Formats: sequence, structure tokens, C-alpha cells
Amino acid sequence: MCGIIAVLNKDNGANDITNVIIEALERLEYRGYDSSGIAYLDSINKTHRIRSVGRIEKLSNEVKSYALDKKAIVGIGHTRWATHGVVSVKNAHPHKTDGISIAHNGIIENYKELSSQFNINLESDTDSEVISQLIAKFMEDDLNFEESFKKTVSLLRGTYGIVAICEEEPNILIGAKKGSPLAIGYSVDQIYIASDAIALSSLSENVIYLQEGDIVVCKNNKYTIYDKDFKEVAREITNNIVSMKDITKCGLEDYMLKEIHEEPNVLLKTFENFENPVDIKKYKSLYLIACGTSHYAGLLAKYWIEDISGILVNVEIASEFRYRNPVLDKDSLYIFISQSGETIDTLCAMRNVIDRGFDTLSIVNVENSSIIRESKYKIRTHAGMEIGVASTKAFISQALTLLLLILEKNKIPTHKIAESMQSVIDMSDFFEDMAQKIRNSRTIIYMGRGTSYPISLEGALKMKEITYVSSEGCPAGEIKHGPIALIDTDVYAVILAPHDRYYEKTISNAQEIIARNGRILTIGSGRIQNHDSIEINNTGDIGNPFVLTTAVHMLAYYTAKSKGLDVDKPRNLAKSVTVE
Ligand code: G6P
Repeated sequence: MCGIIAVLNKDNGANDITNVIIEALERLEYRGYDSSGIAYLDSINKTHRIRSVGRIEKLSNEVKSYALDKKAIVGIGHTRWATHGVVSVKNAHPHKTDGISIAHNGIIENYKELSSQFNINLESDTDSEVISQLIAKFMEDDLNFEESFKKTVSLLRGTYGIVAICEEEPNILIGAKKGSPLAIGYSVDQIYIASDAIALSSLSENVIYLQEGDIVVCKNNKYTIYDKDFKEVAREITNNIVSMKDITKCGLEDYMLKEIHEEPNVLLKTFENFENPVDIKKYKSLYLIACGTSHYAGLLAKYWIEDISGILVNVEIASEFRYRNPVLDKDSLYIFISQSGETIDTLCAMRNVIDRGFDTLSIVNVENSSIIRESKYKIRTHAGMEIGVASTKAFISQALTLLLLILEKNKIPTHKIAESMQSVIDMSDFFEDMAQKIRNSRTIIYMGRGTSYPISLEGALKMKEITYVSSEGCPAGEIKHGPIALIDTDVYAVILAPHDRYYEKTISNAQEIIARNGRILTIGSGRIQNHDSIEINNTGDIGNPFVLTTAVHMLAYYTAKSKGLDVDKPRNLAKSVTVE
């Protein structure tokens, strides 16, 4: 949520860094994109600040047309997902007080208290501005930039990834991390601080992830890291594994389409790379805890795990679990599922469980993320970088990973399943036609029974996220307890009906919709006369959910395209939700 990049030229290098910042912001745009900005110091230590509402492209054009007569030597950039304060230039980062400019990810919970304690009048409506105000204030009290920054950070409550620069001490770049990721990179000419390794791809071969409470001070051609007690520490240097292939669309129109196309291969790769770090059969029950699409992967796994192993599975939404004082059992394994590994609710829910001394397992896609680092047992899914804001291929790898925890590999016909997923992808013409029919529906109701029920939730989530058409998923048997009241000729029902033990019952529910003039698309098996349908190859209770998932992802994608929407950056959403 929000992206940060900061660049410092080594030895006061002569390179202009504005392009480096803009290009990194373009790579970070998926983290939040309602407004953006850049602040930098030129070679006579004057601050220049350009901020803009809308996409990075707009900022880039404004920066290009900005009459820069001196090179930028140190600078910071930010792409915002608004929390405090409406989307406006005034609220866009970087914030500047006197000669101090800062960019911030996260939420400063005590910004009001601090503002009144230090007599600060904020110019913007944001919580973040208090940071530049405090640094400037402490510098007036004769502290230097580094001391003022450290003092400021020690007063903050909440979460942050912060970078800061200062006119009076132009050869220093400082950063701090708590609850929001921040990583350091470097090249021959420059040192970088960024919220995400993707920002550093093509800039730095290595990345150093800051840990909770760390502060980094970059000066004299090197970086020095201090822990939360301001003691100098060394942090591990890792390879930056984000490749150019990860961040290109491979000739397709959108990242989301590329990522749906990768789903069959992600299934195979997850299968090949799976290694089980823990025997889940020794636990009395399991808790699967996550948000969004990852939560639906957990719901799907509940059907499989309880059916195959008889182990009780509780599936929990992280934001509820962390606050509701749940009854926890020490003989349970607590499994946290997250694509990004940074979702704050999932991370904090996990910390609650760790504090109580219970076993945790994380299933995470992003290497070195907070959730994977802090859990006891860990599994990295192998979906590859996911850039489209709406999660697609990560769901496939999460679901298969959860299944592999209880089912022997030889019982999963991955190649057959991947082939069936591919045949769905090959039917793009069908989905394009279908999109024309459903795009103007008032509501789209997805329904299924058994493992098709979590896929109906995933289908509805994807549809509403990227098309803004109101959509809901429901167990097919539940429609007559409420959702059927919605049915009329403006409503489409997407019936997930593979040829499984529920098939006939699901089709009966479809008939109830038809009897009330609703329109139907069946995805699965068979065809209802005068209604739309798409057949999928039956790959059984294990395979069908994967194939149906690819189908609902394709349907959402083509519907959003038919409405001319930006599928990769849907309004109001962000990829990695690091604020509550
Ligand atoms: C956001 C994303 C969703 C994602 C959810 C959970 O809402 O837009 O696509 O499913 O966060 O994210 P996580 O990274 O924890 O899986």
C-alpha cells in the first residue's frame, strides 16, 4: 500500500536521478496509484517538489516539462493510496517542512497528539506530514538531521516506512521501517531505499531488507543500519530475484491476463517445488487465517482437508481474528496465507498467535516478506511476481500448497488439471462474447456447492474488484434464503456446476433462477436449454476447483475489458494492504 523509492548519488555524482525515481515509481504503481510525487535536491541544495493527482504517467510528464537547470543529486518519490486525507495534490507525498522532505507508508496513529504536543499546524490533512514537521522542529533545536530523524521516529506510534532528505545536509538519505517494508539496494553510482524489491529491479543486484524498528543512514558512499535501540547492526544481503521477465507483460495486454495465462504453469511449478516443513497430522485442528483471495484459498482447502484427513479446519478472516479474542488451542497449527506476506491484518493476527507460543506456518509468495520471516514453519509458493492488483495465479499456488499438506503427490493429476485449465484459457472468444452479455447486469450472483462454493466467492470478488458490477458468491443451496429476491431480468447467475456429487442439486437451483426470469451462465458440465454454458473437462473434486478458478478469472477479465476499464489498477484498491 503506497510505494516509496529514494536515491542518493554516491560521491555527489553528476547523474540526474529524476528518471531513476520516475521509472521506479512506475514499477511501484501497483501498490497504490491515486496520486504521486517526487522531491529532490539539486547541486546547490535547493529542494524541488512536484506532486500530481492520478497515475505516474501524469507525474512523469510534469517532471519532464519542469525546467530543471541543475542536476538532481538526492531525491525521494512516492505513489499513494490515500488513508488520511482525500486524494489531492496537497495530501500527496513527499511532504515538506522547511528544508525537510519525507515520504511515508503506513499510518501514524498519534499524529494528532504529537501535533498538539509540539504545537504543529499541519498544512495537509495527512498523518504523515507530522514527520517532516517534527524533524524540522528538532533541527531548530540544534539537533542535526540524523539526530532529529531518530528522535522523531522514537515518538511515532503506528506503522511506517519512511525516507527523508534535508537541504542543510544534502549528502544524507535516511530511512526507517516499522510494520511497512523497506529495503536497501546499491549500484556503482547510487544507493537506494525502496518499499519493494520490484522498485530496485534493474537498479540493484542485491537487496537488504530492514527489520522492525531499523533505521538506515546513507552517507559517504555507504549505508549504516541501526536497530530500534540505535545500535549499529548488519542485515543479510540477498539477491534481488525480481527479474525483467517478472515485470514485463510478455506481449499480452495486461499483467492480469499474463498472470491468468500463467495459471497452468504455476500449478505445475508449485507441485514440483513443494516441500512440506511440518506434519500437520500431528495437530488436533488447523486454523487457516488470511484476507481476500487468500482467505478463499483457505475456504477451499477446508473442504479438501476435512474430507481427506478428517482434521478439523477453522477458516478465519485475519482482521476479525486478531481483534475478537478467539478461543485458541495449543494443539492446533495456525496457518497464515498471504500472497504479499505483508498484509497487516494477517501479520498482526500471526503475531498474536506467536505471542501465545503456538505453532505457526506461513504460506507466502513474496520472498523475505514479514509474514514468512516471522512464522515458525514456512512454505514459499511459486507463483512468481504478481503485479495485477486483483490476485489470480497466487490463488492457484496457495490452494495447491494447502492440498499438498495432506495429499500424496501421486494422487494429484497435475498435468491433466493444467491441460484443462489451458483449454479454458484457449476459449477466450467465448469469454469475450459472454462479457458483452453480462457487462450491464445490475448484479451477478455466483453459486456453487461443495468446493465450487469458495470458487463462487472468488469469482464474485474478482468480478466486483475489476468491473465494479455488484457481485456476490453464495452456496447454491442458500439462494432461496435471500439472494433469490434479487433475481429479475437484469441479474445474471453464474452457476458453477462441474460433474460432481452435487451436480443435480446445483442444476435444480439454476432452474429456480430461470423460473424467475434470471439469466444463467453455467460453467462446468451439461447445458441448460436457451442459456449460456461453457463445458470444462471433469478433473474430479481435486482438479475441478482449479479449472473453475481459471474460468471465473477469465470471465472477470474480459468483462472489465469490455467496459474499457484498467484491469491491472482497479479504482480504490491496492495490491499489498499494509494498513488496517
Ligand atoms: C488485497 C488484494 C487482494 C488480496 C488481499 C490479501 O485486497 O487486492 O488481491 O487477495 O489483499 O492479500 P495477501 O497479499 O495477504 O494475499
